[in-house]
Amino acid sequence: LVIVVDFGGQYNQLIARRVRENHVYCEVYPYNKAVAKIKELQPTGIIFTGGPNSVYEEGSPRIEKEVFEMGIPVLGLCYGMQLMAHTLGGEVKSAAAREFGKTPTKVNTASPLFKGLSEEEIVWMSHVDYVAQVPEGFEIVAHTDNCPVAAMQNPARKLYAMQYHPEVLHSEHGKEMIHNFLFEVCGCKGEWTMANYAKTAIEDIRKTVGDGKVLLALSGGVDSSVAAALISKAIGSQLTCIFVDHGLMRKNEGDEVEAAFKDSGMNFIRVDAADRFLGRLAGVEEPEKKRKIIGEEFIRVFEDEGRKIGSVDFLAQGTIYPDVIESGAGDAAVIKSHHNVGGLPAVVDFKGLVEPLRNLFKDEVRELGAELGLADYLVWRQPFPGPGLAIRVMGEITREKLDILRDADAIFREEIANAKLDRSINQYFAVLTTTRTVGVMGDFRTYDYTLALRGVTTTDFMTADWARIPYDVLDTISSRIINEVQHINRIVYDITSKPPATIEWE
Ligand code: XMP
Repeated sequence: LVIVVDFGGQYNQLIARRVRENHVYCEVYPYNKAVAKIKELQPTGIIFTGGPNSVYEEGSPRIEKEVFEMGIPVLGLCYGMQLMAHTLGGEVKSAAAREFGKTPTKVNTASPLFKGLSEEEIVWMSHVDYVAQVPEGFEIVAHTDNCPVAAMQNPARKLYAMQYHPEVLHSEHGKEMIHNFLFEVCGCKGEWTMANYAKTAIEDIRKTVGDGKVLLALSGGVDSSVAAALISKAIGSQLTCIFVDHGLMRKNEGDEVEAAFKDSGMNFIRVDAADRFLGRLAGVEEPEKKRKIIGEEFIRVFEDEGRKIGSVDFLAQGTIYPDVIESGAGDAAVIKSHHNVGGLPAVVDFKGLVEPLRNLFKDEVRELGAELGLADYLVWRQPFPGPGLAIRVMGEITREKLDILRDADAIFREEIANAKLDRSINQYFAVLTTTRTVGVMGDFRTYDYTLALRGVTTTDFMTADWARIPYDVLDTISSRIINEVQHINRIVYDITSKPPATIEWE
């Protein structure tokens, strides 16, 4: 185990992922809780992240000095390096200008950090403060034209630090530097694999649950699907999954989810609630109102089904690690009230939560899903909003409009897959607008709907760029939809990034 100590840097999760890519398990803790965790968990290594502060600012994040005296190797990055220097008696200064971007750096290849690398390396710098004087016992092992200490070390005390960001891909051999810290300095072996994770997780679930009953709301998304597969492997029929089909899923999606889980050993309940949802949504045009209705109705359906099952001991959720790290971090303005299937209120009395994915990143969840033998179409499913197609049919929702959208969206997805773009475009879907325009088909005038296509590339879905889908692929999609789907006579492609637009249209 490696512990990543978070000082508020924007790359904290990236560092954790880099460590795990080396098959070394790591966990992230905020700086003010880290030392207690380190004492409890006795990691083989510690990494300090960067952060936005300056060490000599009043109230900037600090760490107890004893962390450097435990004999556990520490790697400080950016702010983490400055804090190490400051705490151990070195000197940190503020530069006149920021050093930013890809920077050639002279490195000392005798340092274990740079084993196997060249004497000049390109690294990613982003700092104003710098270490002007290293603490006693430290030596400088890298520098740039503007930065006298780009890396420093004290091998006797197993303390190492870098001013730049090796976790960012722009640092050309940053991965190797992190690998070197883990393997050359900490002596990690790299034995953490998804197969091991699955084994341990299954044992843990069995231990926690005993012969109790577990209830899970299955949405068909990646996280809840993988959680369901894992838990059912652990406890079989003690798990009940309720899959609420609200009638707002994509084409064939409900059947696919049912097919994947029906015979998996758990109790799988598909609730066909389309009438309930569409009934309540009739005549509603306002997006937030639609979301609210769907959220409420979802809980009601879940409660009704829960009551039929009777008492349950545990509620399972597909919470993943980014949610855990970020929970309680700031109150961002509510742009759209996201209705998520997880995080249900206490609709049933239960003793506790089972969250077997809470230590995994999204890509690791997919890897685990594949390890458990889940079908590719579930493992690689793109994110799909809880309110489903209700926020992709603009304005009022009718069954007819949903059917038109479903057919068009299915063609769009099929052609994106045919063009082998389905893993590089992170989310793509069709939107049925309220706009109707005049067209001509054969010898007839038409007056039908405009369909919008949206495709985005993004890593975090907080910001996104519109996907550059090749014109010939767009052309195939457009002619297929116009020819195969009735009531659409015009297709437009959305070329706005987020911000200023959002990914969904409502
Ligand atoms: P926006 O449209 O806010 O979307 O840029 C960002 C990501 O969130 C998804 N999304 C939702 N997910 N309930 C959800 O569970 C919602 O109400 C909702 N609205 C948007 C959207 O699909 C994208 O991945």
